[in-house]
Amino acid sequence: MKVSAMRSEDNKKITETGPGTPGGNWMRLYWQPVALTEELDTDRPVVPLKVLGEELVLFRNEDESLGLIDRRCAHRGADLSLGRLEDGGLRCYFHGWLYGGGGQCLDTPAEPVSSKLASKVRIKSYPVVEKNGIVWGYLGPGTPPELPALDCFAAPEEYTFAFKGYLDCNWLQALEVGIDPSHASYLHRFEEDDDPEDSYGKQFRNTSLGTELPMTKILREYGRPQILNARTEYGQRLVALRKLDQDGLDGSSTHVRITHQVFPHGITIPLSSTMAITQWHVPIDDSSTYWYSMFTALDEPVDKAVMRAQRLEGITLPDYKPIHNRANQYHFNPEEQKTETYTGLGKDINVHDQMAVEGQGYIYDRSNEQLSSSDRAIVTYRRMLLAAIDTVAEGNSPDTLLTDSAEVESRGPIPLDGIGPTGEWEDFWAQAISDLRKASPWASELRAALSTGPAGVPGSVLEPDPSLLTDAYDLTADGR
Ligand code: FES
Ligand SMILES: [Fe+2]
Repeated sequence: MKVSAMRSEDNKKITETGPGTPGGNWMRLYWQPVALTEELDTDRPVVPLKVLGEELVLFRNEDESLGLIDRRCAHRGADLSLGRLEDGGLRCYFHGWLYGGGGQCLDTPAEPVSSKLASKVRIKSYPVVEKNGIVWGYLGPGTPPELPALDCFAAPEEYTFAFKGYLDCNWLQALEVGIDPSHASYLHRFEEDDDPEDSYGKQFRNTSLGTELPMTKILREYGRPQILNARTEYGQRLVALRKLDQDGLDGSSTHVRITHQVFPHGITIPLSSTMAITQWHVPIDDSSTYWYSMFTALDEPVDKAVMRAQRLEGITLPDYKPIHNRANQYHFNPEEQKTETYTGLGKDINVHDQMAVEGQGYIYDRSNEQLSSSDRAIVTYRRMLLAAIDTVAEGNSPDTLLTDSAEVESRGPIPLDGIGPTGEWEDFWAQAISDLRKASPWASELRAALSTGPAGVPGSVLEPDPSLLTDAYDLTADGR
């Protein structure tokens, strides 16, 4: 018997983000990554883009100011992304109407000299900020909030690196794979361990902090992590514990992996012991998504050239679409699947995740799934998401909207991948955080997340309620 089916109307509510939808109204309260700064590093910095179902154009004026405006000209709808970048704005190629970054029409040159038409015309425009390699747009009502008080925004630009990639499916599938700690033991399994020396910029390829054990070996040999999760002010903290008791190990040490869900659609995970990845999953429309990652190093400036070259190998420009994709079955290799990797898709874990989430369909139908105990953080996220959408629909502000960075307790949030004494992961984490931050040239004075209470969150409770935890979750039992 299936016990965990989600109601179809709820699935619709949490996947659709176009203008006027309940999910779209909720998501628009947050800044959205809309382009990489590098996309504007051209002789003609004009980028057409689509975000949350809206077709827009981003441009940079000669004075460096940015504009994010409707892609369609107000006159008769020509495509402004092919317009002329001049005179402090974007000029339509059809009849020469000129638009500034605020969407105001500045000139209608085909009209009589005495015409006042320009002053009455305005097209849609949105506030924009640029931070650490990503351009952010605010598509919501009223005054935008501050960018949240996360490490990736606090870090100096040279300690960060930003990149993006395309996923051919709904945004929520892309996010959910990021809060699913057990999949790493299967989807990302390698039968052979690589040389950790060659691990810079790659995930799951180094040794875990405080050990010589390669991550690939830990993931391969310990496929049933204990997962703890708890709500935080920014979303959720996840702790995956793997007690090391095989191959002559006595179980006195435990592998601890701490990751986070950051509202609205982000995660923060460790890349290495000193580098975090914060990744957002931004709807292009309801059936396609861009992920944007900001890599943030605590210890030293990031080698952006190496990081970029590694990632350019897997995509095509200008749209950052993966070379391995649905159309070519991801270059699936059945022989490799038998002997080397779980997927048969090579060693780029982004491709594994991509196949997993695109394989669920363009918009995954959650009314027909069987959740299990390893999905606890996903269950919690969906509950939080539904509640947030309903809160916004009632005209209120969701709890997880961090509007004032000064009020945030849990800067970071700080991920960790390390091995500590069994039963003492909280102390191990607190000490590791303290050591890493003290040694950081830029983070040593910034208050870090605390690490007491269930899943390291003060005052929180384990999620979902343990009384609901049998071996499957019933999303309908308590209404959600
Ligand atoms: S359609 Fe743009 S100026 Fe006429
Ligand atoms: Fe993954």
